[in-house]
Amino acid sequence: MTPEITEQFFEEAKEVGCRTVVDPFVGSGTVIVEAIQKEFNAIGIDVNPWAITTTRAKINPITIDIKNLRETIENAEPYLPSDRLKKYHTERQLRQLAKIRGGIEKLQQIEKPPALVALVAIAEKYSLIKYSPAPKYSKNNPLIEDETQILTEFLIRVEQAIQDLAKLPTNNAELVLADSTTWLPQKIDAVLTSPPFANNVDYIRHSQLALLWAGYAKNSRELGRLRTMQIPSCEAAARRQKPQLNQPWFESALSNVGGKRKKGYRRFLAQYFYAIDKHLQVLAERLEWEAWYTVGNSQLGGAEIQTQEIMAKLAQKHEFKTKIEKIGVRCKPNRSLYLVKLCKKN
Ligand SMILES: C[S@@+](CC[C@H](N)C(=O)[O-])C[C@H]1O[C@@H](n2cnc3c(N)ncnc32)[C@H](O)[C@@H]1O
Repeated sequence: MTPEITEQFFEEAKEVGCRTVVDPFVGSGTVIVEAIQKEFNAIGIDVNPWAITTTRAKINPITIDIKNLRETIENAEPYLPSDRLKKYHTERQLRQLAKIRGGIEKLQQIEKPPALVALVAIAEKYSLIKYSPAPKYSKNNPLIEDETQILTEFLIRVEQAIQDLAKLPTNNAELVLADSTTWLPQKIDAVLTSPPFANNVDYIRHSQLALLWAGYAKNSRELGRLRTMQIPSCEAAARRQKPQLNQPWFESALSNVGGKRKKGYRRFLAQYFYAIDKHLQVLAERLEWEAWYTVGNSQLGGAEIQTQEIMAKLAQKHEFKTKIEKIGVRCKPNRSLYLVKLCKKN
């Protein structure tokens, strides 16, 4: 989501009298925070519980006393939500992180999201994983000087979060853990979102450490279940039993996908666009003004996948008027960013 598009969207939405903006793929919550700043009501939806927690951590002001928090943690029993975390941290890191996690259990419900987000940021730093951007094992992890270093860094982050949250206007934002290919609010003024891109990124793998520390998944089976619920934007999220888009014009868009991974790519793409189609079908019944999607094209198996065009074609099937604007280039060659705008025909 670019700042220019966000700015333009809220300006136009205000002009036509929209009060509520929906982001059906909320991710880290950029759109929701912007909506709050612009004094709109906002509804954010995501099927990844960590996305909901990350966004919640940015919208509800909290008043934790840092001295009390330090004491709570010092007196807490260590809590390790998943044994799998032993794979990702040294014993020393794990001991200090688990102690903080134990303290977080004692906090009030509203205080937990910013505390968990601070813990995960520290856990990512002090781990055997490096992000480049996909997570990979690495033996190079920062040294811990003493037994309180991780706690001190954690408390600094929480303090910063408290200050940032205090600057936010009081707001009317709701977050919903749901699959937006089957569930959307009954009436939608406007949508602004960046949906998952069909470029083989595994959103669950990227948030794996967070999901484990938060306790949203305990093992590979539970991580796999969360991956199954995602719009399949990567081979890992495709499933044999998931329905696929099956239309002659789409088959020909896939026909250039070749190479060794052709079967896997074609399968996840057919499942990805089936899910996007379902989302648009639900949206068509509810949208009052416009829906803006920033989407990127992809390059898979030697073929260009023009996501923006396929999405627009699917939207037309559901009686949407569509408009595509190129809004920028992305870091890799031949990759661009587009804005797909949808509104109902009458
Ligand atoms: C590109 S990210 C969103 C980025 C976000 N707009 C931001 O600025 O941070 C896509 C999001 O879609 C979510 N997602 C994938 N499948 C979904 C589904 N079926 N329903 C709701 N959210 C889904 C993913 O969990 C991920 O958080």
